[in-house]
Amino acid sequence: MDRLQQVLDEIAEEAAAADDRGQVAHYIPELAKVDPQQFGIAVALPDGRVLSAGDAATAFSIQSVSKVFTLSLALGKLGDSLWSRVGREPSGNPFNSIVQLEQEKGRPRNPFINAGAIAVADLILSGHEPREAIGEIVRFIRYLADDDTVRIDERVAASETAHGDRNASLAHFMRSFGTVTHAVDHVLGVYFHQCAIAMNCLQLARAGLFLACQGRNPLTASQVVTAHRARRINAIMLMCGHYDGSGEFAYRVGLPGKSGVGGGILAIAPGTASIAVWSPGLDPVGNSKLGSAALEQLTKRMEWSVFGA
Ligand code: DON
Repeated sequence: MDRLQQVLDEIAEEAAAADDRGQVAHYIPELAKVDPQQFGIAVALPDGRVLSAGDAATAFSIQSVSKVFTLSLALGKLGDSLWSRVGREPSGNPFNSIVQLEQEKGRPRNPFINAGAIAVADLILSGHEPREAIGEIVRFIRYLADDDTVRIDERVAASETAHGDRNASLAHFMRSFGTVTHAVDHVLGVYFHQCAIAMNCLQLARAGLFLACQGRNPLTASQVVTAHRARRINAIMLMCGHYDGSGEFAYRVGLPGKSGVGGGILAIAPGTASIAVWSPGLDPVGNSKLGSAALEQLTKRMEWSVFGA
């Protein structure tokens, strides 16, 4: 059997046996209902093969993993002028923190913390109604995954909207500085719906493949972003993709990665693979506990870390 398939099967077996699976996110009630026993992993390769193990075909809420795709989309629309609104430094703070925003005059540290992603959603909204902007994001992700069945879980979107006071605070605060320019409820509508996109590991691994292949999606033979831009998006994922757990993720896994509170992680081994892993239980920082452990084992056993063996 293929060595990679064997490693994925071993990792899924180890995950199934794990006792401490972390805690599912509770601050979004719809996510609190998800069964923490689940685990899936999928690896998309430049030759078009997608290998998987566990619950890789079960859809989950991608949450903040969507921020990689909205950043890619917004960079395509605006180019580097995006960086006048959002920084690209690690925050060293929780994903929903507000403290730095005041000290840094409403300019979020990076596009992956909530404030930064809300600012990016504001940019995507320019010239559109919220439902058009949401449609554009979903179409972009379907195009990347080469799969028209990717959809929004409206129950998750409604759940986040009903419990979105923290994000609303961030958005209002940024609007007072001009980082957010549209009506806050419109911007949050876009942001909550992008977070509520449901995908499975197979789809997510395919959607990230352009980042492993110098900006080109080998499944559709389309150049999604330039090679240079793909390299830079990977750099931001490495430094900022796991919030105040980014250093630990780089230390343990050694790949650019982006996590979400639904328990998904997209990790990129440049030139080699796009990996999606999902397990709903989170560590105290809000990153998938078994997902991070699985990626640590995968990079170790396949020697895929960007820092070598
Ligand atoms: O805005 C929120 O809080 C969620 N929709 C997304 C947060 C998230 O996924 C953080 N990731 N670990």
